[in-house]
Amino acid sequence: MSAAGSRVTCFLNQKGGVGKTTSSVNVAHALARAGRDVVGIDLDPQGHFAASLGLEGLDPGLDDVLFDQVPLAERLQPARERVRLVPPGPRLPEVEQMAGGRERGWLLQRAVAGLDPFPDYVVIDCPPSSGLLAINALLATDEVVMPVSCDYLALEGLAGLMRTLMRVERGLGIHTRKCVLVTRYNGQRRLPKEVLGKLKEYFPGQVLKTAVRDNVALAEAPGFGQTIFEYRPESNGAKDYRALAEDLEQHRVFEPAAEA
Ligand SMILES: Nc1ncnc2c1ncn2[C@@H]1O[C@H](COP(=O)(O)OP(=O)(O)OP(=O)(O)O)[C@@H](O)[C@H]1O
Ligand SMILES: [Mg+2]
Repeated sequence: MSAAGSRVTCFLNQKGGVGKTTSSVNVAHALARAGRDVVGIDLDPQGHFAASLGLEGLDPGLDDVLFDQVPLAERLQPARERVRLVPPGPRLPEVEQMAGGRERGWLLQRAVAGLDPFPDYVVIDCPPSSGLLAINALLATDEVVMPVSCDYLALEGLAGLMRTLMRVERGLGIHTRKCVLVTRYNGQRRLPKEVLGKLKEYFPGQVLKTAVRDNVALAEAPGFGQTIFEYRPESNGAKDYRALAEDLEQHRVFEPAAEA
């Protein structure tokens, strides 16, 4: 876990394409622009977190940290002012097949705990799977943010994910804060509004205040190796991720009482 006053957050959902990477990239940059010292960890062998910031997934990376206990600090690359990032490295997919016992789940936690000085924030982008990499993320973090798009299947998947996380945590004797992040929101349509209402009802006090709206600039920015703040600083995407970073810092969620 993190040092006092700092925070380790992972964006986790085994469902693909829900906005984990988009959120990791833009929350990391938003926090850095607000003056925080940020370390990004690309825990997805696809390397999209690194690529979105203009780094190569095949650079020496996190695989050396997890397999060979290379200190995390030795694999961090400068990505932006106040953002350093560790790319996945070519052997990261092999982690899922790693032999050994329970300690395999704690590798990332140990590496992160070894950061000295500890940054203000560590942001972890998870792969769309629920294997050993996801367990490593869970054990390394204080806070799990579950991005979810607004359809009914996403809702079911999220309830399942929440149950799984609680079961795993009980087994391991740990506890993380869990919050739900609504992504690709379109308030003009009926279904997303209904789903948001259900989310608030099913996960009281856990849905983050800012729903990130569907915004084409967010999808375009990575193609230019830019964050939303570089590509379209005036866009709704930039506004939403700026607000979301504040939500995370201040734990701003929909309070059940205020919504009643
Ligand atoms: N708010 C948004 N508005 C428009 N497009 C978005 C938004 N959020 C994400 N996208 C786009 O949706 C796609 C999936 O997003 P992203 O890669 O962040 O999801 P992911 O959960 O990391 O996916 P994976 O599970 O494959 O890692 C990308 O093309 C991304 O640019
Ligand atoms: Mg991703």
